[in-house]
Amino acid sequence: MGASISSLAQNGDALTAVWSDGERTDLPYLWLRDNCGCGECCVEQTTEKRFHVFRVPSDLRPSTVDIEAAGSDDEAISIAWPDGHHTRHRSSDIRGLLSRPRLELQYWDGQFQPRRFNYQRFLADDSAAAELIEEFLRTGVCVLVDAPTEPDSLEELAVRLGPIREVLFERIHNVKLDPKGYNIAHTALAVGVHNDFTSYTWPPSVQALHMLVNECEGGASTVVDGFGLLEALRSEHPDKFDVLCSVQVPFRIFSDEYECYAANPMVDLDSDGEIRMIRFNTAQMQAVPLSEPRLGEFYAAYHELSSRVNDPGAQVTFRLEGGMILLCAGHRVLHGRTEMVSNGARHLQDAYFEHDNVRTHLRLLRRTGRA
Ligand SMILES: [Fe+2]
Ligand SMILES: [Zn+2]
Repeated sequence: MGASISSLAQNGDALTAVWSDGERTDLPYLWLRDNCGCGECCVEQTTEKRFHVFRVPSDLRPSTVDIEAAGSDDEAISIAWPDGHHTRHRSSDIRGLLSRPRLELQYWDGQFQPRRFNYQRFLADDSAAAELIEEFLRTGVCVLVDAPTEPDSLEELAVRLGPIREVLFERIHNVKLDPKGYNIAHTALAVGVHNDFTSYTWPPSVQALHMLVNECEGGASTVVDGFGLLEALRSEHPDKFDVLCSVQVPFRIFSDEYECYAANPMVDLDSDGEIRMIRFNTAQMQAVPLSEPRLGEFYAAYHELSSRVNDPGAQVTFRLEGGMILLCAGHRVLHGRTEMVSNGARHLQDAYFEHDNVRTHLRLLRRTGRA
């Protein structure tokens, strides 16, 4: 059990709770009112909120505040509001909200090898699924082995990864040698590391690459940790990193039937300044308009990024055999393929999923005690 609340002080727009270990926590009055968990403020059936904050004045202040016992080893802040409403917050609940859970990412370089997991266990066993998802959230990459070699088996992953994220072109993409193919992956050429569909403003955030058969010479798979190398670039060249976060780069993929185009910076940050996404796809990158005022700076930064992405020391190479599925966090991990000789059958299928659905599947497994 942690510290308890020993005293309360009302300030201008917040209640200050002083904990028994001397720590202090400011609890804004509107926060205390908005998070009232009573049966009037919430839908009892669903626990969803019914209260709307506009219903109280923005300068709301409590009439009275007290500390009350709540069970044998907890206490609650008890608040009476001027309109007669009453709110209680247990200190254990407040303690649980003091920090924001943040997953530690594990960056990696060319020395790393993605962990392998058994396909059937991942589907059938909740603990095995939780173990894989934790590894995937940390490193952004895993390999499933002993998977089926029948086409369209990727549909089966939906029980763990959530629904397939469809994009233009096929629901499940077929990658084979195709003299009429719309994409470099349909040739025998090496495919430099990239992430897919940077031509969407929200590219698919999980990609599953499923090898059905691989009897060609060459054609090894390569992966790179985009976040790891961007963090290094940010600390060594903050100005270049900033340009990559701000200059819009157009990407395009198209065929006779489809057109997919969007312009966005190569790096997106979240509101904490953490890297949210890399967009790196040389084959699909279009000319940055000459009207871009930072074009020269952009090219210096892009050259640096391109050098790091293609540095053999950053690249992990392995062979995907038939019955193996490479799972990549699409906004973080870049994938590619070495050149191949078309002297045997080779058929890869890929499909996309959404990272939020994968992350929250783990949450569900934990919440329901299944893993
Ligand atoms: Fe790709
Ligand atoms: Zn209430």
